[in-house]
Amino acid sequence: MKSYNIALIPGDGTGPEVLAEGVKVVNAACVKHGVKLNYQSFDFGGERYKRTGEILPDSALEEFKKFDAIFLGAIGHPDVKPGILEVGILLKTRFALDQYINLRPVKLYPNVETPLKDKGPEHVDFVVVRENTGGIYTGIGGVTQKGTPLEVATQVMQYSRPVVERCVKFAYDYTRRRNKKKMLTLVHKCNVLTHCGDLWVRVHKEMGDALYPDIKQDYNHVDACTMWFVKQPEYYDVIVTENLFGDIITDLAAIIQGGLGIAAGGNINPEGVSMFEPMGGSAPKYTGKNVINPLATICAGGMMMDTLGETKVADAIDKAVHEALASKQIKSLAAGKMGMGTREVGDLIAKLVS
Ligand code: IPM
Ligand code: MN
Repeated sequence: MKSYNIALIPGDGTGPEVLAEGVKVVNAACVKHGVKLNYQSFDFGGERYKRTGEILPDSALEEFKKFDAIFLGAIGHPDVKPGILEVGILLKTRFALDQYINLRPVKLYPNVETPLKDKGPEHVDFVVVRENTGGIYTGIGGVTQKGTPLEVATQVMQYSRPVVERCVKFAYDYTRRRNKKKMLTLVHKCNVLTHCGDLWVRVHKEMGDALYPDIKQDYNHVDACTMWFVKQPEYYDVIVTENLFGDIITDLAAIIQGGLGIAAGGNINPEGVSMFEPMGGSAPKYTGKNVINPLATICAGGMMMDTLGETKVADAIDKAVHEALASKQIKSLAAGKMGMGTREVGDLIAKLVS
């Protein structure tokens, strides 16, 4: 029997609750398809930080490298200044494990409310491949004369050709495997960012011409892309973009697919250990109330299995989520309005995959 070792980081607030349901569903689907998952849980997050001052020791990163994947609930604690845990846990893991792809499927399931007028599931079904470790996130830059009237701050967008190439290659391969419109849209701002943008444009074209003649090449400026997400989301198939633009457009993308209750993300190292998470935060006010929506975490679990190569397990989870929503058994994605509790949503999807 195929088996995988999964590191769990339940994290803060409602993180443990949603992760429990993600694990429940992934287990049920794996049992059905003859796959075994072994888990080990890590208590990184706000509580541990408050207790011990430790955020994420380097030894933990070494530990993570022994696993096949990491499955995370949520990070963020009301008593901890915003940014400390996000940067110290999420960003640190992304960089240390070289998770250079942020994969964000944007899919509107049936009966899910979108703020887009006259748009339904047939219009919103695309994937954003965000470069996840480069660009302005590398932190290059600094400040001089801080606090004086003359202070100067810089933060540099840096991209090497190999970093652009590995991301664009992943995106082309993904577009081919997805096998839908077979179109890869590069999103950038090459009319202004004439150095970085130009590098992305050339890599996208050179690689496409040489290795992916079956994939249509397309380009949008990032500002225009945000308009098209709202006006004509059905235009897109797969988008590839640099780190900061990807961060921004994937929040817009999350809301058009119904919001944080359903948006899942993967921090992927195709040759190493990847980490999967719901896009939503720790929602502390809902902690322990059995009202938070676990679907985003369940979908992240599906993406984890897909990335591990267990496509049947992943497809089963996607179908089950689709069915639970299509049949209106889950009434809304909003916390407390699902018509059932967090655990009951997990039970329902687990039953549907079994
Ligand atoms: C995301 C988040 C992170 C990012 C933050 C929490 C560091 O916004 O995953 O999109 O900016 O990448
Ligand atoms: Mn973000």
